[in-house]
Amino acid sequence: MITIKENNINVEEFNLLYDSVNWGHYNNEISSKALNNTFYSVSVYDDEKIIGFGRIIGDTICFLYIQDIIVIPKYQNKKIGTMIINKILDKIKEVQKENPDVRVYLGASKNKESFYEKFGFVKRSKANLGEGMILKK
Ligand SMILES: CC(C)(COP(=O)(O)OP(=O)(O)OC[C@H]1O[C@@H](n2cnc3c(N)ncnc32)[C@H](O)[C@@H]1OP(=O)(O)O)[C@@H](O)C(=O)NCCC(=O)NCCS
Repeated sequence: MITIKENNINVEEFNLLYDSVNWGHYNNEISSKALNNTFYSVSVYDDEKIIGFGRIIGDTICFLYIQDIIVIPKYQNKKIGTMIINKILDKIKEVQKENPDVRVYLGASKNKESFYEKFGFVKRSKANLGEGMILKK
């Protein structure tokens, strides 16, 4: 049975998800710190097994950032990603009650933009904003 849980993920599950999509997991200390500093997360399970995840990071009220949307390959294209984003959007609606001007960002991986566009996200250029930037390694 597919179930969805809030703020429930552990380090082992987080690392497993990262590996499943070939992102290469962080060490346990880093993963643990990242999860502990997460504002809100959604985990999806098939019975006991984790199959999907997404989280919100940020200052909890003015700026929120959606991160780590992952569905393990075997379960992709079965609307699990949609479940995750919809749950995250519900949480954002709660925050909007407190601050209607909360800004919600995400950085789509290459060619994943159309997945997010289905939920109302637009490219920054379409919102008359500059390109997103990232510090070069
Ligand atoms: C991107 C990802 C989260 C989508 O999850 P999913 O469960 O497979 O997506 P869904 O089944 O809910 O698909 C919802 C819609 O998005 C579309 N979609 C799915 N994957 C897509 C992709 N990679 N690019 C563009 N559109 C995509 C589907 O066709 C579907 O369209 P429809 O509503 O018109 O039928 C998943 O493919 C994934 O984890 N990929 C690897 C990790 C990753 O790149 N994450 C995103 C980081 S920005």
